[in-house]
Amino acid sequence: MNGGRQDAAAPAEGRLLETVRTVSSLRAQVRDWRSRGETVGLVPTMGALHDGHLALVQAAQARCDRVIATIFVNPAQFGPTEDFGAYPRTEAEDADKLRAHRTDLLFAPGVEEIYPGGFATAVHVAGVSEGLCGGHRPGHFDGVATVVSKLLLQALPDAAFFGEKDYQQLQVIKRVAADLDIPVEIVGVLTVREADGLALSSRNVYLDPAQRRIAPALYGELVALAAAIELGENATLAIGRARRRLVDAGFDRVEYVELRDPDSLAPVGDAGRPARLLAAAWLGRTRLIDNIAVGG
Ligand code: PAF
Repeated sequence: MNGGRQDAAAPAEGRLLETVRTVSSLRAQVRDWRSRGETVGLVPTMGALHDGHLALVQAAQARCDRVIATIFVNPAQFGPTEDFGAYPRTEAEDADKLRAHRTDLLFAPGVEEIYPGGFATAVHVAGVSEGLCGGHRPGHFDGVATVVSKLLLQALPDAAFFGEKDYQQLQVIKRVAADLDIPVEIVGVLTVREADGLALSSRNVYLDPAQRRIAPALYGELVALAAAIELGENATLAIGRARRRLVDAGFDRVEYVELRDPDSLAPVGDAGRPARLLAAAWLGRTRLIDNIAVGG
């Protein structure tokens, strides 16, 4: 879509990052860029930005002339017992990071802008949103699909960028865009990890030091499990062993470890073809998820 900006990660002292809070201001800015023939990339987030989000911004800059980041902690994707109230809200620091990474616009709407009184529509994606996180977080993917549909229709970007860390979410969003004919390319970006393998997540701040030491075992077990399956070990037996090893490592509860088709997320018995391993496990009150490719 463009030649890629060479200076995407360079600091941008003094550069302004405009923040808009209404759909009409967002659309006015996008209209202006379009009138000049510029392409637009969208990076939807819930804020509490870390290097994983900034990798999305950089991926967007490599493909599009202009990059919009959005920050909206979406109440519709949190269950009644989940952490909507406690979810970190750090807009000023987030804006600094986006500015330093030369983001062109921040769209940070309030709840009323996204869900005005009388709002009554939800987007439900069958199949790919069922099971895995969808099975354990009822309604979560309806909330994600609804808000992402709105953000895509509000900004009408050429491409939108999502982390592979939320792999099921990525597949749900691809399905939404395809099924609703939203003219956007959905781009998945590789998971960014700490040096010890822990996938970056805004929720990692909930981990106490002891939990933080245990947390990388989730990725470690997925790597070992993928290798065992690729070597031909029975996937069901290997998954059972990985679950036990996660508990031995200190996880309080393993929600799921599953081998799935990488696109449809349908269960896969054994990886005679490319597949995806996905897992969710709890450390105290913190739920961690991760995933890894197998084969292919
Ligand atoms: O991955 C997230 O941060 C959120 O689920 C998203 C895609 C911004 C929708 O609220």
